[in-house]
Amino acid sequence: MVNVAILGFGTVGSGVAEVLAKNADHIDQKVETPVRLKYILDVRDFPDSPFGDKVVHDFSIIENDPTVDIVVETIGGATVALDFTRRALTAGKSVVSSNKELVAEHGHELLQLAAEKGVSYLFEASVGGGIPILRPLSQCLAANELTEVCGILNGTTNYILTRMIRSGLTFEAALKEAQANGYAEKDPTADVEGHDACRKICILAAIAFGRHVYPRQVPTEGISGVTLADVAYAESCNRKIKLLGRAVKQDDGRICAYVAPHLVDGEAPLAGVEDVFNAIMVKGDAIGDVMFYGRGAGKLPTASAVVADVMDAARHIRSRKRIEWGPGGDDVAVGPEKMAFRWYVRALGTAEDARAVPGASLLSRPGAPADEVAFLTSPMTRAQLDGALGALVPQSVFRVLE
Ligand code: NDP
Ligand code: HSE
Repeated sequence: MVNVAILGFGTVGSGVAEVLAKNADHIDQKVETPVRLKYILDVRDFPDSPFGDKVVHDFSIIENDPTVDIVVETIGGATVALDFTRRALTAGKSVVSSNKELVAEHGHELLQLAAEKGVSYLFEASVGGGIPILRPLSQCLAANELTEVCGILNGTTNYILTRMIRSGLTFEAALKEAQANGYAEKDPTADVEGHDACRKICILAAIAFGRHVYPRQVPTEGISGVTLADVAYAESCNRKIKLLGRAVKQDDGRICAYVAPHLVDGEAPLAGVEDVFNAIMVKGDAIGDVMFYGRGAGKLPTASAVVADVMDAARHIRSRKRIEWGPGGDDVAVGPEKMAFRWYVRALGTAEDARAVPGASLLSRPGAPADEVAFLTSPMTRAQLDGALGALVPQSVFRVLE
C-alpha cells in the first residue's frame, strides 16, 4: 500500500483527489499496489467534499507519519511550499509538485535533497499542464544534442489572446473567463506579465541543457502591451500574436532565454494553438523538430500529469526516479540582446520615417489614425532597431518568429 498526502486542496489538489479516487482500480493495477489518499492539508475545511474527513491543518501530522510515502504539493508559491517540500523530502517522502515557481527558483537544491534522501522529486505538471513534456525531454530525447526549446507556455494568456482575436472580448472580460475556468494563477499578473511562462522556460532549459536557469536571468515581457490594433496589423500580414518562451543553446555553451510576444507565421504549427492549449517545440540534432501539444492548464488535465508522477514515484518507492541538472550561475544564461530578429513595430510617426528603417515593409489596417504607422523590419538586434527608429515613437515592438 502506498499512502499519499495532498498539500493544498484548490483547483489542482482537488483534481488530484478526484482522479486518484475515480481511477483507483486502474491506478492500483498499474502500480501493482493500492495507492490511497490519506491526508489533505489546507488552511480551510471542506465539509461538503467527499474528501472532507481527510483534511488536516498541521503539516507535522503528515511529516511525522511514517506510512505517508508520497506528498503532493499543490499549494503554489515559494514560501510555505518550499518549507513543506524540504521537510517532506528530509523525512524520506517522495514529493510530486505542480508548482513551477518553486521548481524554477529552487529546483536544483530540491533535486539534490531528494537525491541525498534516496527519494523522488517529480514535477511533470509544472510545465504544460497535462502535456507530457518533461519526461519526454529528459528521457525520450536523451540521445539528442538539444539546441532550442520554444513554445506557448501559458494557458491563461493564450486563452485571453484567442478570445480577444476570435470573439472581440476585452482583455478584462477574457481574463475573468480564464480565472473562472481555473486556469489563472492566484495573482493573474504572473500570467499576464509573463512570469509564469518565464518560470516554465527556466525548467525546460534546465532539463534540456543541464544547468539551472533562474527567472531573474530571463528578460520577460507579457501581453499587457498587446492591443487589438497589433492583432489587426498581424492579421494583415497573415501572422498571429503569441506569447512565447524561448531558450536557445549558444555556440559558447551559454543559454539564451527570454519570454515575449511574437508574430508567428499564420501557417506555422504554433499559430494554430488556441484557447488554453499550449505547445512546445524542441529542436534536437537527431530528431529535428518535435512538437508537444495539449491542454496547458485546468483542474483535470493538470491532475492527470500529477497523478502520473504519483504512480511513477509509487513504482520507485525504493529506487529513486532520477531527474537532475547542474547548478545555476551568472555565466549560465544570457538575454537575447545580441540576437538578430525581424521586428514588428507600431509607432507614432510618418510613413516616410518608417521607410527609413532597414528593410521596412509597411502594414495597414482599417481605421488606423493618420499619425500611426506599422511595419516589419529586416533582421537586426534590438539596439540596432532602437538606433534606426529616428523620429518614430514606438507603441508596440514585437519579434517575428522565423
Ligand atoms: P489554488 O489557489 O486553487 O490552490 C491552492 C490551495 O492551497 C488553496 O486551497 C489554498 O487555500 C491552499 N493553501 C494556501 N496556503 C496554504 C497553506 N499554508 N497550507 C495549506 N494550504 C494552503 O491553486 P491551483 O490549484 O490553481 O495551483 C496550485 C499550484 O499548481 C500552483 O503552483 C500553480 O501554479 C500550479 N498549477 C496550476 C494549474 C492550474 O491550471 N490551475 C496548472 C498547472 C500548475 P486558499 O484558497 O484559502 O488560499
Ligand atoms: N496559470 C497557468 C497557465 C497554469 O495559465 O498556464 C498552468 O501552469
